[in-house]
Amino acid sequence: TESWILMATGRTPTNIAVIKYWGKCDEALILPVNDSISVTLDPDHLSATTTVAVSPTFDRDRMWLNGKEIPLSGDRFQSCLREIRKIADDVEDEKKGIRIRKDDWQKLNVHIASYNNFPTAAGLASSAAGLACFVFTLAKLMNVKEGCGKLSSIARQGSGSACRSMYGGFVKWTMGKDACGSDSIAVQLASESHWNDLVIIIAVVSSKQKETSSTTGMRDSVETSPLLQHRAQTVVPGRILQMEEAIRNRDFASFARLTCADSNQFHAVCLDTSPPIFYMNDTSHRHDLLYHKDKPFILNLYLNDNTIESIMAKFQAAYTFDAGPNAVLIAPNRKSAGLLLQRLLFCFRHQQTMN
Ligand code: PMV
Repeated sequence: TESWILMATGRTPTNIAVIKYWGKCDEALILPVNDSISVTLDPDHLSATTTVAVSPTFDRDRMWLNGKEIPLSGDRFQSCLREIRKIADDVEDEKKGIRIRKDDWQKLNVHIASYNNFPTAAGLASSAAGLACFVFTLAKLMNVKEGCGKLSSIARQGSGSACRSMYGGFVKWTMGKDACGSDSIAVQLASESHWNDLVIIIAVVSSKQKETSSTTGMRDSVETSPLLQHRAQTVVPGRILQMEEAIRNRDFASFARLTCADSNQFHAVCLDTSPPIFYMNDTSHRHDLLYHKDKPFILNLYLNDNTIESIMAKFQAAYTFDAGPNAVLIAPNRKSAGLLLQRLLFCFRHQQTMN
């Protein structure tokens, strides 16, 4: 056999949903029960870096995550790989004397090595960055001509939230109408530069892996939570429109109100699920400095405030929690972020001395 190797590397940031995706109406294709909106982070921070290599000497597809080999069979990575192979194109590298025809991709095996620069599966959407990066880098290696819309629908089949990491800035995942999922894709609402004074602070209170995976959690919620049905049909459609408007107008007060309300409702759906899911309530960890005392109200408690509105008025910040205990705080500018951080650090030190 020939013994060449061809490689591509990509880096993709994670995204934080401000209107949450929770619940699938088709589990195999990953079609959501509602639209969602997110902010893609700066790639210097929470991102995945993936290298994919192809060589006729590889006897099977293999994958390593953070240096450890993980099985690929029957996995979501496998469905993304299959979809990308279908639209792969000819590749020629004259210098190396490599010539791959589009049909050859079906027979060639790939090796994939991916690293996250942040805790995996701790509710920081590591799967979003990982799967989006995987799809993007494979598409680069295999000379895929399709645009980000198509790639987002492939990443979606790996992990729903991954489709939104295909773009920077503010991104909407439209649930779509088609039963095959062809229109369940991500679209960019605004680029990174549209509202670049926003500051996102991620308070990693625990890097432990979450106990209920989003797949199991969503399945249970869809099957048992009446609130989920109400949320998807009645609440989210209106909120999506309001959020789009808030983003368009850089209206932080509305953006923050909607973000906090939607995070609260997502966790309310989790509580409404049978058996209930407590993503924000796992007090068994030792790193509980920030979230120890009732998570959504962490700032309330420490600041002796009673309402979310009063925190927002004072520090002007929004909070949102995904499927894990880590808090994501969003401040409208560096000045408020500075004040907020000062306050958090003060509380942290105070807490340490008390212990
Ligand atoms: O893409 P998944 O299966 O990891 O689900 C992510 C779900 C949330 O992060 C809780 C919400 C979201 O929209 O990202």
